[in-house]
Formats: sequence, structure tokens, C-alpha cells
Amino acid sequence: MMSDLTAQQIIDHQRYPIADLNSPLRADLISNIQADLAKDGCAVIKNFLSEQGLQDMLNEALARKDQAYYSAKKHCNVYLGDGDDSLPADHPRNVFLPRTNGFITADLLTEDTAARILYHWQPLAAFLADCLGKPELFIYEDPVSNMIVNLGKPGQQFNWHYDTNEFTITMLLKPALSGGHFEYVPNLRTPQDECYDEVRKVLSGDRSRITRLELNAGDLQFFLGRFSLHQVTENTGDDDRLLLIMSFTEKPGVIGSLYRVKDLYGKVTDAHYENERQRVRADELLD
Ligand SMILES: [Fe+2]
Repeated sequence: MMSDLTAQQIIDHQRYPIADLNSPLRADLISNIQADLAKDGCAVIKNFLSEQGLQDMLNEALARKDQAYYSAKKHCNVYLGDGDDSLPADHPRNVFLPRTNGFITADLLTEDTAARILYHWQPLAAFLADCLGKPELFIYEDPVSNMIVNLGKPGQQFNWHYDTNEFTITMLLKPALSGGHFEYVPNLRTPQDECYDEVRKVLSGDRSRITRLELNAGDLQFFLGRFSLHQVTENTGDDDRLLLIMSFTEKPGVIGSLYRVKDLYGKVTDAHYENERQRVRADELLD
């Protein structure tokens, strides 16, 4: 299956003319997003995808959903790492939560897909960079996980975690009929501090800092997921939830760690082994 749309046709470019650098609509959009991101690290562009763009992306994902990978690791801490016996049992590193969602990996979303066409469209990265006040953004070079579809079948969930990348955008292709809510805790940690006490509170059921987002199919969500703990709650409907995730980086050539990619997506490439030898990473946080 292939899309015959151009990148510009995949989105609602009339309403959101992101490729038109002189458009006042583009400038307005950017300042609205900047205000929302400054508030809590999250912003949404309603109906960003065109009707046909959404349909193509959904069909692409549905055609590949039987190839989705489910991690063998069914319980994870929020860092996707190992526990630590020297720490108390309720320390966040020792709290393992069920994680049952699957991923349609980037290698399956071939060159002719609408998802890939949009991801590689330079005006998108330029627009995102402007929204974030960064000089430039690059696509995440990880060949397995740079652009993936999160598949939540009925009964599945994607429990509390942080993202490896500082910056991710998602596009909801199909919401759950019930449940499957995106929830987040804005800026729960910093590059210098894991803030374990605050993480522990969330994991023990304190909902006071949690925000739940209302998303519809075709919406684009900006999210600073490296510092904001987040989850997708259990899909309690009787049909799948599908979410396209695109990651970008400030430096070119960044890819995921060998072990994390293998754990999450079930496959790695030579690039991951090479990366293990020469790590290009932005910070020293645990995951
Ligand atoms: Fe995430």
C-alpha cells in the first residue's frame, strides 16, 4: 500500500500553512504552541492531518498491525531499566508496572507510506524547530524506532515512562472507543535530578499533578517527554487504538541504545552495535 499524496496534502496545509514561512497563520500557530509548551510541555494542533492524509496513515498502520512487536518484558520500571536491591522496594527503580502495548516499527513503514513522506518533509522539522526556538531539528536516525506506531489493543496499556528523546510529536490515528487516555505529569524530572520522591508519589496513586489530554484522530500533539512522566491508560474499548510517533533530535546522527531498542522493539541493526561503541547522547539520565 502506498500513498500518492504529497507531504503538503497529508496535512491540512490551508489551515496550518507550515511550509509557508511568511504566512501570518504560521506565525500565530507558532506563538500559540510556544505558550502552551512553556506552560506544561504539551501542545496540540487540532485536525492537523487532512482527511485523506489521516485515512492513508491509518490504512498503512492497519495493514501492518499483525507485525507489531510486543516486548518479551511484560513489566518495566519507568526507566525501562533493572531494579536495584540496595534501594527500598517502593523506590521508583524497583516498581515494575505491566506494559502490554505493541509497536509497528520504523522499518515496516516503508518509503512510500504517508507517515514516512511526512516525517522526512523538511518544512515539518523546520516548523517544529521554530516552535521550540531551536536553530535546527533533525530526524532521529534510529532505523527501528525513529517513527513508529503505538498499537493498543483492547485490554492493553502503555504504563508510566519517560521518552529517550527530549522531543516527540504524535498523531492520533485512531482513538480508543473507551479508555486509552494520554496522561502526563509536566516536568517531573530535570536533566540534573530524577526527583524520585515525586515519581514515587505518582506510582503510588497520587493523581494531583496528573493532566489528562483529550485527543481526536488527526490531532498533532507536541510533547516534551524526556522530563514529563507519561502513560496511556488501558484501552477498555473493543477496538484498537493507534498512535503515530515521530521523534526529532537537536543533534544529527542520534540513535537509540542497543539494549533499549532490542527490549522495546525486538530488533537492532549494525548501527546500534556501532552506536554502543560511540555513544552520541544529550544527557546522562538513567534511560
Ligand atoms: Fe512516551
